[in-house]
Amino acid sequence: MLDEISSVAVVGAGTMGQGIAQISAFAGYNVVLYDLEESALQKAEQIIASNLSKGIERGKLTKEQKADTLNRITYSDDDKSLVADIVIEAIVENLDVKRSLFKRLEELNSEKTILATNTSSIPITRIGAGLNNPERFVGMHFFNPAHIMKLVEVISGAATSKEVANTVYELANKLSKVPVMAADAPGFIVNRVARHFYVEGLKVLEEGVCDVEGIDRLIESSGFRMGPFRLMDLIGVDTNYSVTESMFNAFHQDSKFRPSRIQQQKVDAGHHGRKSKKGFYTYD
Ligand code: NAI
Repeated sequence: MLDEISSVAVVGAGTMGQGIAQISAFAGYNVVLYDLEESALQKAEQIIASNLSKGIERGKLTKEQKADTLNRITYSDDDKSLVADIVIEAIVENLDVKRSLFKRLEELNSEKTILATNTSSIPITRIGAGLNNPERFVGMHFFNPAHIMKLVEVISGAATSKEVANTVYELANKLSKVPVMAADAPGFIVNRVARHFYVEGLKVLEEGVCDVEGIDRLIESSGFRMGPFRLMDLIGVDTNYSVTESMFNAFHQDSKFRPSRIQQQKVDAGHHGRKSKKGFYTYD
């Protein structure tokens, strides 16, 4: 089935959608990158061009490859352009919004189109419930930054067909990623293990044990590339908060996943991290 995929549509041109569109175009696919916000599309176009330029500086690609990659991406705020062999969704981490998007994607596309979600934490079976063809619906979970991080979790919901999961697994390989099959459990594999990194970091802060910079510095000096606060700013404080909230609910309010009020306040204030230039740190 991989041979039948020649076009990719990416919904959501934010932190993750930008990178997913970039690597898909780099691998030779024609890509439509869609967002509701014109400003998100403009920002995505700039970031993708800048990522590719950095790749040239590092000797990872040529100028011709950059030009070809850019030429393969179309930016759109018209949802009628979302017709492709596979549609990868990377919009806000909210069950109802994702479900209504996938209903619309089913209307727009043929029965053969694979519909994939990049959700970090919402059960695949739950998002896919109510679709006419839930067997073609699958989780394709990239990691941030999507154009660099190798891992992709391929998650089958209760109704996902084996053929669809296998095709997405092969597609991830073609995008030069390292795919891993995962079952549809809350947080899948990585987010379930990693959640404690953020949640415990926030508890240490809440209890006044240490400040943000101190916690990050200590964790980084012990070998981690980034401490929890620098990493939340990279991920998006709002996205990270939504993921914790959805895992807390999925595990029946297990207190070990309790979302932090400090983080909630950042979200309420619009301090979403690097993408809004302010989160736990301030950015130029
Ligand atoms: P983001 O907030 O950076 O970008 C989301 C984009 O989706 C925004 O540009 C917004 O305008 C757009 N959008 C929202 N609703 C839309 C709709 N109905 N139709 C079209 N566009 C819409 O979010 P981010 O961080 O890229 O996350 C997207 C998804 O990827 C979430 O499900 C998140 O859990 C998941 N994810 C995020 C990671 C991260 O580190 N940020 C890592 C892996 C997965």
